[in-house]
Amino acid sequence: MGTIVCFVIVLICCVASSVGDTVANCTHEDLLGSWIFHMSEGGHDKTIDCSKPGPVHKVITISLSSYNTAIVESDHEIGTYNLIYNQGFEVEVGFHTLFAFFAWETLNDTHTKYWCNKTMYGWAHDNLGNNWACFIAMKQPDKAVLQSELPENTNGIVKGTPSKLLRNKLALQAPYMNDMQFIMELNKQQRSWVADSYPELESMTYEQVLSRSGHGNGPIVRSKLPRKLKFSSVVKTFPESFDWRNVNGQNFVSPVRNQGSCGSCYAFASMAMLEARIRIATNNTQTPVFSPQEVVSCSQYAQGCAGGFPFLIAGKYAHDFGVVEEQCYPYLGKDTDKCEPAMVDCKRHYVAKYEYVGGYYGACSEEKMIEDLVAFGPIAVAIEVYPDFQQYKSGIYHHVTSVERNSPPFNPFELTNHAVLVVGYGADPSSGEKYWIVKNSWGESWGEKGFVRIRRGVDEIAISSLAQQSFPIPELE
Ligand SMILES: *[C@@H]1O[C@H](CO)[C@@H](O)[C@H](O)[C@H]1NC(C)=O
Ligand SMILES: *[C@@H]1O[C@H](CO)[C@@H](O)[C@H](O)[C@H]1NC(C)=O
Ligand SMILES: *[C@@H]1O[C@H](CO)[C@@H](O)[C@H](O)[C@H]1NC(C)=O
Ligand SMILES: *[C@@H]1O[C@H](CO)[C@@H](O)[C@H](O)[C@H]1NC(C)=O
Repeated sequence: MGTIVCFVIVLICCVASSVGDTVANCTHEDLLGSWIFHMSEGGHDKTIDCSKPGPVHKVITISLSSYNTAIVESDHEIGTYNLIYNQGFEVEVGFHTLFAFFAWETLNDTHTKYWCNKTMYGWAHDNLGNNWACFIAMKQPDKAVLQSELPENTNGIVKGTPSKLLRNKLALQAPYMNDMQFIMELNKQQRSWVADSYPELESMTYEQVLSRSGHGNGPIVRSKLPRKLKFSSVVKTFPESFDWRNVNGQNFVSPVRNQGSCGSCYAFASMAMLEARIRIATNNTQTPVFSPQEVVSCSQYAQGCAGGFPFLIAGKYAHDFGVVEEQCYPYLGKDTDKCEPAMVDCKRHYVAKYEYVGGYYGACSEEKMIEDLVAFGPIAVAIEVYPDFQQYKSGIYHHVTSVERNSPPFNPFELTNHAVLVVGYGADPSSGEKYWIVKNSWGESWGEKGFVRIRRGVDEIAISSLAQQSFPIPELE
């Protein structure tokens, strides 16, 4: 079969967000307590279909407590767990990994509901990727501290569906128009960056332009994190600037791509991260370009063109299922009815391990991002996208709060969440303004040849609080 196993360790950094996808908005506190896992019979391979899980084979109770400790109540086996943004959680105990999204369902055309005390059907397997089973988990309603804050008639009922928020659908079908007044104001209000119009966007509808800049149940969520453990801090020094596109004259960043109007930014950022890290690990002797479409069409750890998270794709999906190269599953930029089996001789590339930086969710900082960026390679991050970001042409971007886009007849813009790849950092020699160098997936004509510099040091548009990262062990077979 010629399977290439790429040993990439993915470490995930930081805070909760909602890059897209399911409507769930659950917190770390929601997780604390005792969960009952109803498991189906094991022994399956990864092709298991957990939408039809079969009868309950056994029941396991696992309690999740502070510091990300998971304890199996029957035998006191101890493991860890992690909240995955506000969307779901993963538990590792003994030899097993269990992952599920929080439960949600569509009520009608305009409303969706979610629960933070139960899950959708999830997937369980052992650490070698064998012995798959399905499960559904429910939290025991013992110390329902939070229940009081979540009255049933408002709890979890969200306007909007995962793929289509409650927007004026007809208006969204109108052709996109650059708002020249808005662009002029942006350039008048500040000198740090230049806004420009993108006439090519006018061949798209508003809806398509919005999908491209992410998804979301509205604003990014920064839920409360577990308390940080104190780490002994070693003071380290880093270069003033660093850019994976030019390390002693060598470029380790794969070419800029264009996601089109599918909300697949998370897949592009994930593939770009893995691509760069393989280039780094092999000193550019291997330069694969991976397939975001295979993720969009085939991964159950994401929601196709309706969004997903780099953690679950560059991390969990690449670990459990592997990713394929572009030519194996070329980009279509849309959801497909089914997952076409990848061509038989397509190699799958796997990551060996993925986890949060510092060992658990929430143990991260901007310094940590720099440290790992320099040491291991580019980092996929989630950012908050405001309408002005769309118009970025050059310079050091920060969100201009004083100018609103107000194009008639309506303003469909809302804050969305987008995934991109941090490839370096630096500071402007004259102003001293610090920035991140970020690769976007909107083609080369956007921004600085497809890249954007984003103000650093202030968690601009949530960039450092929403980071995730990975590093490869430079060993390929
Ligand atoms: C959809 O469900 C919500 C919540 O139950 C309800 O308030 C709303 O009226 C429903 N809308 C329609 C069109 O049925
Ligand atoms: C989840 O919480 C809701 C109240 O918010 C409650 O009605 C429901 O019974 C709970 N489900 C479980 C499985 O405990
Ligand atoms: C999600 O929950 C947090 C509180 O935990 C809240 O501040 C935020 O607005 C919610 N986001 C959405 C999209 O409902
Ligand atoms: C990496 O590749 C560059 C350019 O081909 C070469 O100059 C350099 O010696 C290589 N480094 C290592 C460690 O092999």
